[in-house]
Amino acid sequence: MKNVYNTFGGTADAPWYDTDGKRIQAHGGQVQKFTVNGKDKWYWIGEDKTYGYRPCGGIHLYSSDDLYNWKDEGIILRTMESTDEFEEPYFKELYGSLTKEEKETIFIDLDRNRCVIERPKMLYNEKTGKYVIWFHADGRFPGCKGDYDKAKAGVAVCDRPNGVFRMLGSYKLNYHNDPNGEYGFDGWENRGSVRDMNLFLDKDRTAYIIYSSEGNRTTFVSRLNEEYTNLAVDRDQAVEGVDFTRNFIGCFREAHAMFCYQNKYYMINSGCTSWSPNPARYAVADHPMGPWRDMGDPCMEKGRETTYDSQSTCVILVDEEKGGCIYMGDRWKEEDLAVSGYIWLPIVFLPDGKMILEKREDWSYGQESSK
Ligand code: DGJ
Repeated sequence: MKNVYNTFGGTADAPWYDTDGKRIQAHGGQVQKFTVNGKDKWYWIGEDKTYGYRPCGGIHLYSSDDLYNWKDEGIILRTMESTDEFEEPYFKELYGSLTKEEKETIFIDLDRNRCVIERPKMLYNEKTGKYVIWFHADGRFPGCKGDYDKAKAGVAVCDRPNGVFRMLGSYKLNYHNDPNGEYGFDGWENRGSVRDMNLFLDKDRTAYIIYSSEGNRTTFVSRLNEEYTNLAVDRDQAVEGVDFTRNFIGCFREAHAMFCYQNKYYMINSGCTSWSPNPARYAVADHPMGPWRDMGDPCMEKGRETTYDSQSTCVILVDEEKGGCIYMGDRWKEEDLAVSGYIWLPIVFLPDGKMILEKREDWSYGQESSK
């Protein structure tokens, strides 16, 4: 079915089709503008859930001129059936120079029948000219039966946003250096765990990763290195309060989305209730690493107890000058994740800096504060 859109479905949650008439597969996603070959375009990266939870469809990319109509740019990080595929041209080109052991390690992150690839986000690094994807890399592997026990962050790079991304690896990140500390269900053994995650690029081009850790009890914000491919400081040398911060300790937040609006940093996130929606909260800070001041629930209308049946994944700052922020949420359909919906809503800022997530159906950008 082909559609030309000039509105966002919002809470109406109608299926959203790409310009070929296929259902958009970009869940847990992120939208941002890149200039590629002198041309500005919006890019939407997200989880491909064509086959439901598994087999894992990898990471999908779409592009758009107007945010309403999306062209399929294909799967930019493919998953694999077996290590035999390292002999096929696509994977040989990417990983041909690696040792057998290194390939086996990459395979754990890309094993389509066992891996979990969630909440992929992309950054463009002006210094290296590379596009860098980070994602929640999880799933089963030898000796581990749970889908969320691995709890790492995966990193992949490419010269183009819509090219073929090469995995660099997957990592545990910062941890609270106190063996007697509270690590939730992860414990000290699994310190530095990463589950729901997001990225934030500040105006000075410093990039941060935001992630749920310590058994999802705590939200970490960690500075990335200049290439955006790893932590700024090795995790065993990193200093809390300098290289990373621990936020909302004991609050069990996930689905983080950070953005900067009029020199204030905002973070919206959800509680941890699996695929079921719960009330959102947001917080404000003067720096991406905090301290964060909890501002409560940004939803004011009926349905606020489920964030209008959605879970946050990104906030699109459409126009820095004129403002205009769009909340991107997922409406997960646990019984068939492939048809999970996208709930995009306008964010309105009050003069005192508070923000409201408006409950809207079939709305257009530019009309977000006309209610
Ligand atoms: C909630 C998270 O936000 C999702 O990304 C996913 O990990 C589900 N939990 C799995 O239950």
